[in-house]
Amino acid sequence: MLSTIPVRLLIGALALVVATAASAEDGYDLWLRYPPVETQWRAAYASRATAVVETARSPTFDVTASELRRGIGGLLGTAPQTGAIDGAIVLQRSRLKGAGDEGYCLKSARIEGHPVTLIRAKRDIGVLYGAFAFLRLMQTRTLPAHLDVCDGPAIPLRMLDHWDNLDGTVERGYAGPSLWNWARLPAIDPHLVDYARANASVGINGAVLNNVNADARILTPEFLRKVAAIADAWRPYGIRVYLSARFSAPIELGHLPTADPLDPRVRRWWQSKADEIYRLIPDFGGFLVKANSEGQPGPQTYGRSHADGANMLAGALAPHRGTVIWRAFVYSTGGDDRAKQAYDEFKPLDGKFADNVIVQIKNGPIDFQPREPFHPLFGQMRRTHLALEAQITREYLGQNTGIAYLGTMWSEVLSADTCAPRCGTPVSSTITAVAGVSNVGGARNWTGSDFDQANWYAFGRLAWNPRLPARQTADEWARMTWTNDPRSVRSIVTMMMGSREAAVDYMTPLGLAHQMASDHHYGPGPWVNDQPAPLWNPIYYNRADAQGIGFDRTPTGSNAVAQYESDVGRCFADLHCVSDDYLLWFHHLPWTHRMTAAWPKSQQ
Ligand code: GCU
Repeated sequence: MLSTIPVRLLIGALALVVATAASAEDGYDLWLRYPPVETQWRAAYASRATAVVETARSPTFDVTASELRRGIGGLLGTAPQTGAIDGAIVLQRSRLKGAGDEGYCLKSARIEGHPVTLIRAKRDIGVLYGAFAFLRLMQTRTLPAHLDVCDGPAIPLRMLDHWDNLDGTVERGYAGPSLWNWARLPAIDPHLVDYARANASVGINGAVLNNVNADARILTPEFLRKVAAIADAWRPYGIRVYLSARFSAPIELGHLPTADPLDPRVRRWWQSKADEIYRLIPDFGGFLVKANSEGQPGPQTYGRSHADGANMLAGALAPHRGTVIWRAFVYSTGGDDRAKQAYDEFKPLDGKFADNVIVQIKNGPIDFQPREPFHPLFGQMRRTHLALEAQITREYLGQNTGIAYLGTMWSEVLSADTCAPRCGTPVSSTITAVAGVSNVGGARNWTGSDFDQANWYAFGRLAWNPRLPARQTADEWARMTWTNDPRSVRSIVTMMMGSREAAVDYMTPLGLAHQMASDHHYGPGPWVNDQPAPLWNPIYYNRADAQGIGFDRTPTGSNAVAQYESDVGRCFADLHCVSDDYLLWFHHLPWTHRMTAAWPKSQQ
């Protein structure tokens, strides 16, 4: 019999264990928690993960091996050994065909009669991606008895854009302060490496560190040394660093009287800035630029075009193989329809951008609304490299409250048929890059709420494979993050799948847009406000009047439909063809209009 004291001690010790376990589960480990698999899987999985063999050495091979040891150690309770042969996981460089430069193949094979799993790739980063894929199969309990799969990313550049300011705040950030602690850098905190692990696990291969509303100081030697330390830490994980560049930096930092892109002094300044950056960061990705947009400086200040500005920067980066990502998010109070302005400005520039320029276009023509039709520039700038920009942070979708799983939203836009040049051409095949405005901050669980981790995860997975069903991505995330218990998975995934549509319904139903208070962008606010600028007034977008509601963008109105390929535009303009999802985006309808179908239609 236990005496009272040991029982108390035991209870105390148990409480400690529970408390420790609970405090360890603070969301930090994301979908890379690797909790033990259920006993029924253990023996079979363990026999296929006895050892990790690196057949070459590199920083990427090393982090791959250590991720496999960590993952398998957690999932199976014993870390793989170094000496075992039967059941080893063998990391190999190999000239693969069909999986692209960053792809991988996972294959069950025999080496001298011993059963092994090969993770093979052309480039080392592919081996890391393959290792994460192998772990994912275990994490989701879908590891087949015989492996023979190859996979590679559909979109070459898969980026996160951070809107982090140098003072530690984050524009439209709802997850605490900036992840980058500029005061401590160049010292690398472990969470910077875990950030890279998380990104690599979903295939993200680039990150812009600072806000598009850029502070020129990021380009000073003091900051560049810190940026270089981040780039060094992320290199093994295949993540290249990019910076938002302020177009007027030659004035602010270089003390030149102008930032005119055609002025030779300005060109020289950017060239030597690029040289300086590449001396510190040989694989620096390039610049992201918000120009002549919402008050930011740009080439138009000097009577030059967006192409003049982008090409000047592209010239400075080209010798180093860097890229300029030039945003097409432009609008002004003039004109009859804000939704038409980016197209009007950029379409005539098609074919005029240098080869190392990518024009980055928001998913829809207004601004990250809960639902918008795809941006008409997709499919219409066929002689220009394009990027799709989506918002992972939920500026207009409830911010840091509630659940809004955005995998469904991104699938919708990535699979939208541009019909350009012919039907069957989804947005995803018109782009070379995809960028997500990050929802990650200094919060211990990275995203402020555990559920918002799903959006980080889903963004990466869809950037890798835009055809992945949003439900499958949600299912993977739920299993890897929470549990493989089928009932729980079903409940979580069901909640996730309906959540974005619920946000649409309460924020911007039937294709209405911008129906929120202009100062905080949180929650519906469709009423007239006292904002002097019409573009900040919901009535600019809902056009509600005595006759009806909705924005007429058909030929009787602003004719924005004409910016789409004719098959698409015709359908949007036709009340019998347009989806209810976009009804009031394209049509001004009488209050007495009868809906043709049960609404809402688009519950996924
Ligand atoms: C939105 C957002 C701004 C941001 C801008 C952009 O308008 O509210 O904070 O700067 O988008 O994408 O540049």
